Amino acid sequence: MSATLAPRTLSPAGSQAGDSGALSFDDAPARPAAPVENPANAEGLTTENTGRFDVDAKRLINCGAVDVNQLMPLKYKWAWEHYINGCANHWMPTEVPMTKDIETWRSDKLSDDERLVILRNLGFFATAESLVGNNLVLAIFKHVTNAECRQYLLRQAFEEAIHTHTFLYIVDSLGLEEGALFNMYREIPAIAAKDELEMELTREIMDPNFSTETFEGAQAFLKNLIGYYLIMEGIFFYSGFVMMLSFHRRNLMTGVGEQFQYILRDETTHLNFGIDLINGIKAENPELWTPKFQQETRARILHAVELEIAYAQDCLPKGVMGLNADLFRDYVRHVADRRLERIGLGAEFGASNPFPWMSETIDLAKEKNFFETRVTEYQTGSALSWD
Ligand SMILES: [Fe+2]
Ligand SMILES: [Fe+2]
Repeated sequence: MSATLAPRTLSPAGSQAGDSGALSFDDAPARPAAPVENPANAEGLTTENTGRFDVDAKRLINCGAVDVNQLMPLKYKWAWEHYINGCANHWMPTEVPMTKDIETWRSDKLSDDERLVILRNLGFFATAESLVGNNLVLAIFKHVTNAECRQYLLRQAFEEAIHTHTFLYIVDSLGLEEGALFNMYREIPAIAAKDELEMELTREIMDPNFSTETFEGAQAFLKNLIGYYLIMEGIFFYSGFVMMLSFHRRNLMTGVGEQFQYILRDETTHLNFGIDLINGIKAENPELWTPKFQQETRARILHAVELEIAYAQDCLPKGVMGLNADLFRDYVRHVADRRLERIGLGAEFGASNPFPWMSETIDLAKEKNFFETRVTEYQTGSALSWD
C-alpha cells in the first residue's frame, strides 16, 4: 500500500475559504486544514494503516500519512547529513586536561575584570545548554513529524547534555562556587532577560492545548524554532564564544578554550540544521510566512540583539583584552544580519565584523583534522576492520 497525503494549507483561526475574517493574511488563499489521517502516526505510537509510502508523503510537521518510525526512504537528506556530521565529531569534556587552567585560575595572571568575563560566560552557558536541551525534547521533538529529523534531534539532545556536562566539569576543576554559577540565569539580570525570552517560547508549546494543526499553533512552533536555533544558539551564544576564545588566543584558560571550540563546532551544526528545518517548514507551509509574521520575527531578533548587547556590557563594564562593549555591539549586529539573511529576511544593520578571526575559527572548526587526535580515534572506532 502506498499512502499519500495532499499538501495541506493551514488557515488562521476564524477564517473560512473566501472569508477574510478578523485577521488578514495575504500570502495565500485561506482554506480549512484537511484532517490528519491518523495523528498517532506522527507521534510514533502506531503503525496502523501506514503501510509503505511514497517518499513525497513525508512532511516536517503535521504528517499523518507516514509514521515517524519510517526512516527509509529518506526525504530530507540534509537532516541525515547533519546527523552524520554530528556523530563524526564526538567528544567528551573530561578528555580535555584542565591542569594549566587550574594553575592560571589560582595565579595572579587574571585581573578581576577578566575573572568577571569568565564567570558570566560560564554562568550563562551552564543553564542555556539545559534550556536548549529541554526545549528540544519537550517542545520540538514531538511536533517534528519526520524520522530523519528526529534522528538528528536525538543526536543534538545528546550533544546538549555533553555541553551541560562541560560546564559542570569546568566548575568542578576550577573549584568555582556552583550555586552562584548555576543560578545566574535567575540572579544576573542581563542573563535572566535572555533566558526569559527563551523560556516563554518553551512554555507556549508545552501548553496542553497546543497543536501545530492550527495556523496559530504552526506559527508559534516556527517562532519557537527561530527563537532557539537562530536567537539562542545563533546569536546569544556568539558573544560568549568570542569572549572565551579571546582568552585562548592569548594562551590563557586553554582547556576551557578548547572546550569552547568543540562546543562552537557542535553549535554550528545545530544552527545549520535549525535553519534547514525552519526553511523546510516555510517551503511546505508558505501560508505561515505572512508579512505580519515576518515583521514580528524581525522585531524579536532585533530585541534579542539589544539583550545581547546589554549582556556584553554587563560582562565587560571596563573592557579587557582589547574587548569592549562597542565592539560587541558591532559583532552582535553583524551576526544578527547573517541570521536574518539565512531565513530570507534582509539584513538590518550592515555592521562589519570586528572579530574576523572568529570566521577563521568557525571555518577551521569545520575541518575534520582540527581536533586531530580525538576525532581520528572516534572515526577509527566506527570503521574497525575485523580481518
Ligand atoms: Fe549546546
Ligand atoms: Fe546547541
